[in-house]
Amino acid sequence: MEIVASGIRPTGNLHLGNYFGALQNFVKMQEENHCFFFIADYHSLTTHPTPGDLHGNVKNVLAEFLASGLDPEKATIYVQSDLPETAELYLLLNMNAYIGELERCTSFKEKIRTQPQNVNAGLLTYPTLMAADIIIHKANKVPVGKDQEQHLEMTRTFVNRFNRIYKVDYFPEPVAYNFGETLIKIPGLDGSLKMSKSANEVSAIFLADSPDVIRKKVMRAVTDSGPVDPNKPRSQGVENLFSLLSYFSDPQTNTHFNESYLAGTIRYGDLKKQLAEDIIRFTAPFREKIIALTSDNEYLKKVAALGAEKARVSARKTVREVREIIGFKSF
Ligand code: ADP
Ligand code: TRP
Repeated sequence: MEIVASGIRPTGNLHLGNYFGALQNFVKMQEENHCFFFIADYHSLTTHPTPGDLHGNVKNVLAEFLASGLDPEKATIYVQSDLPETAELYLLLNMNAYIGELERCTSFKEKIRTQPQNVNAGLLTYPTLMAADIIIHKANKVPVGKDQEQHLEMTRTFVNRFNRIYKVDYFPEPVAYNFGETLIKIPGLDGSLKMSKSANEVSAIFLADSPDVIRKKVMRAVTDSGPVDPNKPRSQGVENLFSLLSYFSDPQTNTHFNESYLAGTIRYGDLKKQLAEDIIRFTAPFREKIIALTSDNEYLKKVAALGAEKARVSARKTVREVREIIGFKSF
């Protein structure tokens, strides 16, 4: 039995990238492992310091976790800020996290570019907080999408350094995990390589999107003026549509559009119509459950309370032991 930990920031509704990169694996992993899945609300402050409705966002993501099939009896589902032990471990880890390595992190450099007006210390130390989330439960498997790989590498660096500095063999080395062979990256409808809620409104399809919205977004997806030379690489927008088709449409549909592309007879409008309907078929059951769960405040409250209580057991133990290892002692 593995110990599994992963989280998602509540910065908006969950999209298909979040589902395939993370959530889908959460749901599968809860069956056989000791799992901790949380809503990373501390982390969301690094990009949204004054969130309009922080609690509302947390509630939406919790409803989406449950609608996707996460079971509070099988997994520990909690809100990051309900576990302040994480903040203490983060503080302690920061003492041995070096500015140079934090500054070299790709996601930090990216944020300097995208939010130059708010390059805060929380952004710089985002990887230490993430490491704290993982190792507070001594997890060894972390289901995430490909974009989080470097953060996992940094977690391993911090773990190894902790073990070395304090001459212990205390924290295990966690690895990023996906049920398939490789980590997944779902592309965006705007021609970007990664579907993302933060990058662009038209990049992402959300699990809670209505059929009409999905049709509109897919029909507006970026393409080109038509196949040029079948031997040349497809334009990124078209490549993305084919990639999405491979996730949501059946093999015959995929073969049909691939062949008509090669024959030069493809009509992107037809492909988009088919893709939109297949995505709608996929998201419909999620959407119904999300709507029902979001309005069930009492149930969500119960789930969060149970999760916090369960998460506290391993968190308290880890913080107590780490304090001992470092040398804190009470009189
Ligand atoms: P966003 O980039 O939209 O802000 P997050 O960074 O909050 O999304 O991602 C939460 C989880 O979903 C992470 O595990 C991340 O790797 C995964 N994820 C996000 N976008 C994608 C994507 N396009 N493909 C695969 N996984 C993704
Ligand atoms: N950084 C992750 C993201 O943006 C969210 C996250 C926070 C996380 N803490 C974590 C993921 C711990 C895995 C483990 O997607």
